[in-house]
Amino acid sequence: MKILILGSGGREYSIGRAIANEEQEHELFYMPGNGATSSLGTNINITDYNALATWAQEKEIDLTIVGPEGPLVDGVVDIFKANGLTIFGPSQAAAQLEGSKVYMKNFLAKYNIPTARYIETASIEEAFKFTDTLTAPIVVKADGLCGGKGVIIAQNHDEAKVAISEMLSGKSFGDAGLKVIVEEFLDGYELSMFAVCDGDDYILLQAAQDHKRLLDNDEGPNTGGMGAYAPTPLVDELLYQKVKDRVICPTLEGMKKEGAPFEGVLFIGIMVVNGEPITLEFNVRFGDPECEILMPLMTSSVSDMFYKASTNKLSEIKVEFSSQYAVGVVMASENYPYKSSTPAEIILDDVHHEIIEKYTHISYAGVSEEEGVLYADGGRVLVCVGLGDTIKEARDRAYLRCGQVHFAGKKFRTDIAYQAL
Ligand code: AMP
Ligand code: GLY
Repeated sequence: MKILILGSGGREYSIGRAIANEEQEHELFYMPGNGATSSLGTNINITDYNALATWAQEKEIDLTIVGPEGPLVDGVVDIFKANGLTIFGPSQAAAQLEGSKVYMKNFLAKYNIPTARYIETASIEEAFKFTDTLTAPIVVKADGLCGGKGVIIAQNHDEAKVAISEMLSGKSFGDAGLKVIVEEFLDGYELSMFAVCDGDDYILLQAAQDHKRLLDNDEGPNTGGMGAYAPTPLVDELLYQKVKDRVICPTLEGMKKEGAPFEGVLFIGIMVVNGEPITLEFNVRFGDPECEILMPLMTSSVSDMFYKASTNKLSEIKVEFSSQYAVGVVMASENYPYKSSTPAEIILDDVHHEIIEKYTHISYAGVSEEEGVLYADGGRVLVCVGLGDTIKEARDRAYLRCGQVHFAGKKFRTDIAYQAL
């Protein structure tokens, strides 16, 4: 197939890498891609979605896969479909599950999907009144997309009220904060689950855990994610079943009733409280770096899964997973997540060790390329992935690979997967 992938991160690199490793040959294109995706396929730069759809028609692209939420919320899937193209991702209407936290919370409430008790409001009085009924910590969320920064865990009522005022006045997140969610704090352990959906059917991938904080021991500021591992032993069959019955099935049924059948990746942020999965949030795309560890765990064809999901034929295929574990360690640039850093040359040691060669690899994210040299050129630069028969083995291998990557200012957590060890 000729396949176009939208996005430029490690997530998109890992999807392309999995497709490039399939037995069947494919031709890959990236829009815009990064300095390393050009070794998996061809990077193109057409930012207008109508122009991109025309290009895809002319090029006879068989399948387009959308990585990040931005293009989905902007309606790229609707535009491609209107042009008769096959594309994997939710429509603009369905992407509201991520694009608007108010939409998502009201959807969860309407279809009786367990979630934190909340109020959704644009009124400061109402928000304050509800805040007074909660015990701290208190969670305050901006309605719209804020690049992963729109959630404040306030340690007391005053802090919560400051966060509410700053959001509703437009001070902290502009228009994205003009409506807020105030909700109770859930105390439990967090999981990421991913269901690949075709509107009617779904395939649930292995549960992962992300590491959102910058520093070891979950300290420091929130980031997009500093590492992940899967499958997590914190999930047993019973919990998977509860997530299917209480979250995924009612969501697919509900979205059909809403006239926005869900196709694409349903990313469920779950807090497990006393053994019960409570939905924190939905995203409508793969997590990053979760995707980088889930892709190498799939032993059946990834491109076929995405193609079947885009053509409402998921029920026809059986998706297979490796029995191994995967651990991904993010290497970030010096000033991440505060500000950008000066581009730094990346030097990779030659791999001589058979284990490293066979059981580790790198998914590239914030990198640029010039005359054959790779530069660290973004916040999260790359992800070192290790595979193994145990989580510990996978983790040790990922860290062996980290030791072979050098660039000025590189930083990474040293405790990825600690929850499982
Ligand atoms: P979100 O962007 O909604 O995923 O929120 C970001 C992070 O905030 C989540 O990954 C959780 O760690 C945390 N969080 C969000 N909502 C709650 C809640 N109700 N209780 C506890 N933690 C939460
Ligand atoms: N790693 C979490 C996210 O992609 O939102």
